[in-house]
Amino acid sequence: MCGIFGFVSEDKLNVADIIIDGLKRLEYRGYDSSGLAAVINSKIYSRKQSGRVFELEKVISRSIKSSVAMGHTRWATHGKPTNKNAHPHCDCTGRIHLVHNGIIENHKELKSKLEKRGHIFKSDTDTEVMAHLIEEFSKKYSFEESVRLTLESVVGAYALVIISADAPDTMIVAKKSSPLLVGFAENSKFVASDVSAILPYARRVVYLHDGEFAVITPSDFRVATLDRKKVFRSQELIEQSPVDLAVHGFLSAKDEARKNNFPHFMLKEIYEEPEAVENAIRGRLIVKDGLAKLGGLESVEDKMKRLNRLIISACGTAYLAGLTGEYMLEEYGGMPVEVEYASELRYKKQLFDARTALLSISQSGETADTLEALKEAKRKGVLNLGLVNVVGSSIARETNAGVYNHAGPEVSVASTKAFVSQLAVLSLLTLFVGRQRGMSLVMGKRIASELSTLPEKMRRVLKEAPNIKKIARKYHKHGHFFYLGRKYNYPVALEGALKLKEVSYIHAEGYGAGEMKHGPIAMIDKNFPSMIIAPSDSVYEKVVSNIQEIKARNGKVIAIATEGNKEISKIADDVVYIPKMLEMLTPILSASPLHLFAYYVGVMRGYDVDKPRNLAKSVTVE
Ligand code: G6P
Repeated sequence: MCGIFGFVSEDKLNVADIIIDGLKRLEYRGYDSSGLAAVINSKIYSRKQSGRVFELEKVISRSIKSSVAMGHTRWATHGKPTNKNAHPHCDCTGRIHLVHNGIIENHKELKSKLEKRGHIFKSDTDTEVMAHLIEEFSKKYSFEESVRLTLESVVGAYALVIISADAPDTMIVAKKSSPLLVGFAENSKFVASDVSAILPYARRVVYLHDGEFAVITPSDFRVATLDRKKVFRSQELIEQSPVDLAVHGFLSAKDEARKNNFPHFMLKEIYEEPEAVENAIRGRLIVKDGLAKLGGLESVEDKMKRLNRLIISACGTAYLAGLTGEYMLEEYGGMPVEVEYASELRYKKQLFDARTALLSISQSGETADTLEALKEAKRKGVLNLGLVNVVGSSIARETNAGVYNHAGPEVSVASTKAFVSQLAVLSLLTLFVGRQRGMSLVMGKRIASELSTLPEKMRRVLKEAPNIKKIARKYHKHGHFFYLGRKYNYPVALEGALKLKEVSYIHAEGYGAGEMKHGPIAMIDKNFPSMIIAPSDSVYEKVVSNIQEIKARNGKVIAIATEGNKEISKIADDVVYIPKMLEMLTPILSASPLHLFAYYVGVMRGYDVDKPRNLAKSVTVE
């Protein structure tokens, strides 16, 4: 994973200001350590530091200027997040430095060969092997050829930036599987893992393709493939507005101000959930005709009519949105759906036929597992659809057609408003697909009109915040939690448990409420509370029986129930009410209380809920 940022300029630029700013914009990709390196008077200045980018800021010189510099913010894969494992890594001479995003799979065998040749390794990373390989090849070849031969020797994924004190005007960059692009400003070129870091400086960009490397100097930019074929890549103009940019989740000092009066981005984004749904459905509903208008799918509308199977592929919270979508699309859309972890789908035998489509769901549009599963499916020729938040992201560019959720910037690492907006788009898709295949006008109108009332009802749910905070105070010291729900609210239970784990580090398990009795109930006692989603829907009576089973074993129950349900307050210990809603859409209402509960518990336990330990906003390694 990790974020990479660098520049090559005709001028001498302030390294600290520019590299630190770029790294902060990429910090969502990893924040366990960071580092930078710059060529100064044919020597390399390099500093690295464990912890967030602001820790690096404290140990670097503020005044150095250079024409060639690069930085890295890390999410550890090989080697603990210590100073020595932070990037950049260098060779034995200290003259070749590089930063890397990805994983080098054959690093062990390469390392042992290099050690036999006398190379001394300073870190536990897979990355360092490449610096020593370049050093080894440099004994016979030029810098460029040494990098090329190194790239031929390694197996795995990489976005790489390499500088050498012996080629002080040159930066070489390379890409395979991990993203990398180059931006062009008047006197300078910038390289980065994603466009958010580049756009403050340049709007014209070139996306490198897999298997390509580029040689960048102040006056030159050349792209070639590893087998030495020259490649011409024309520059693309990025039209994104600053708001679109922020969707990437970057932070700079100025962006911090966007928290407004909220103590954390997570809370701000939960409060933006109604607006995120509003934006997802804006202009896409024709209530009087019971239709959803999805412009991004118009080009494939006819193909979609012929589909008999939809495979949803995603990770994390996006996967849980997909699971909810399965219930919607099957019951109302009449479309058979399977939902897969993208990390599993890629390695499964994919039995696709001409009437199968893949729908990849991703907030960032950069998750490596989702992207790779999509590329694999693409090779098999299936129709590839996307549900993505970040405009112009890798997944958005790889799919044949798709729908943006327009949730706006999601900065907090734990996904909240993107989840509800994904659910809103999946509801629209259900309407779109359903009306293609037998859904009645009456049902279409019902779904469309209920969907249009969602934002207002979500705002009512947020008024429950003081009650939810009180409940969080009561339970925040517990070490375990169950989250239970059935049918539409089963995936939401999984989402509630995931959110609690992510931001409060409490052990939480999500289960189908009916499955509880087949094992997990053995764990219930007075110290093992359950959060149960129990709206007045088609499975309400069954869920009430599940609550009784827990109460009979002295378990505490927090219930999320429909307004006006007095019965539940007699059996549950605590209740949060949500407005009445068409069953299919209740998950969009029940998600916010779970997000708020996780937020309050995380804060009460004293954690940095916006940047939880070990996580990253966008996971770009498989
Ligand atoms: C990471 C994040 C999760 C997110 C998942 C999928 O693990 O920490 O919050 O749900 O990636 O991200 P995507 O951007 O593909 O939705």
